[in-house]
This record gives sequence, C-alpha cells and structure tokens, in this order.
Amino acid sequence: MNMDQLKRQAAARALEEVRDGMQLGLGTGSTAKHFVELLGERVRAGLNVIGVPTSEATRLDAERCGVPLTTLDEIDHLDMTVDGADEIDPEFNLIKGGGGALLREKIVAAASDRMIVIADDSKWVPMLGRFPLPIEVIPFGLGATRRAIEKAFAACSVSGQMAVRKAKGDDKDGHVFVTDGGHWIVDAQLEKIADPPHLATALSAIPGVVEHGLFIGLASSAVLAGGEGIRVIER
Ligand code: A5P
Repeated sequence: MNMDQLKRQAAARALEEVRDGMQLGLGTGSTAKHFVELLGERVRAGLNVIGVPTSEATRLDAERCGVPLTTLDEIDHLDMTVDGADEIDPEFNLIKGGGGALLREKIVAAASDRMIVIADDSKWVPMLGRFPLPIEVIPFGLGATRRAIEKAFAACSVSGQMAVRKAKGDDKDGHVFVTDGGHWIVDAQLEKIADPPHLATALSAIPGVVEHGLFIGLASSAVLAGGEGIRVIER
C-alpha cells in the first residue's frame, strides 16, 4: 500500500467518529484532504454536518465536495477537528504547518472539543524536531524577530538553521511563501526538541511571531495508518 492509500485509510477511520449534526474543524494538507473528500461523500448521502475550514485550500476542497461551511463567528464551538500533522510525539505534542496553515489550524483546534490527528505512521516519532519547525512571522522587523527567536532557542537548549519559506510552483520560484493571513513562515531545522512546551511558550512570547507549529495539549487522539494496519491512540 502506498503512502497516499495509508493517508486515505486514516481519514476513513476518523470519519467513523463523525455523527449527524456535528460541527467539524476541517484540517489542511494531503491527509486532511482525503477526510474532506470522504466527508463529502457522506454529506451527499444525507449526513448533516457543518465545517470550518483551516485554509483557503480546504475551503475550496470542501466547497467542491459539497460540505456545508460556516465560520467561528457564526457558531460557538466545534465538536471535533480532524487534521494531519508533520510529527506527533508520544505526549501528543505536534509539529504542524508544513502546508503553511498552522495559524488557522491552531485557532480551529483550540475551538474544538476534540482534535483527531490523522497520519501515516511515519509521522509518529519518539522526539519532535527532525521536521523543520514552521514559525509564522510578521515581515516587518524580521531581523529583530529572528534574533529573538535565536535567543528563545538558546534558552530552550535547541539550535539550528532558519530559512524564510519560499513558494513552490513554476510561476512562484524565488518568491516568498505568503500565508492565508498575509504573513511569512520561517522554518527552523532543530533536529531535536527535548521540551516542546517550553519552546512553545518561549516562541509565543516574541512580538513578531504570529504563531508557531508546536501544538501542545490540543490533540486528543491519533489515527495512524501503516503497513500493519491502523492504530488509534488516545491521549
Ligand atoms: C498544514 O499546514 C499542515 O499542518 C498539515 O496538516 C501537515 O503539514 C500534514 O500534511 P500532510 O497530511 O500533507 O502530510
């Protein structure tokens, strides 16, 4: 089974948790896209749910699949968010933001009663850090923000190269990647993050940092698809 089939399997397992009438957070990325597509099939068969997308890309996917959408201004909570992740550790700390949607993803996850992470099992790691940590920043004053981030890294005993993310695609080569919120992303190659909650707190205190990809205490379960089958792990 290839990686994409594993992602779809994880998405299908998470779909089993969806109940009629639920208000759902809809994640971003290739795994979450499978969930939106499968949810769309159920909606077309009569399931009554409403979703809040975590990116413009997911909004377009959901519209294409016929999933009714709302916003966090129109409803007061979400029953469940289903989203992918770049890394998950055994404490259920996550790195997210490989797709650049970390800010809306975190707002939506924090507004949800539960967050189910769906992934192929290569995302389950003993320690976060091999995947570059995305940090969403305001372009203004970036030099000062980078220096403050370096100080936060030193205080948390991590270090590594930082690079402003570039957009991908033929017409975009060389251009800076711009998030749905109009910000930039700095990716930090840290290799090992021994204390993710400590680093998360330090990064959140920096004025030019809009948000970072460390999701602490948000995920309630993980659905991991691998060659041996599907594992559902509860926090
Ligand atoms: C999007 O910003 C990310 O947080 C994704 O959820 C994460 O990168 C996982 O994406 P894939 O499902 O494509 O691996």
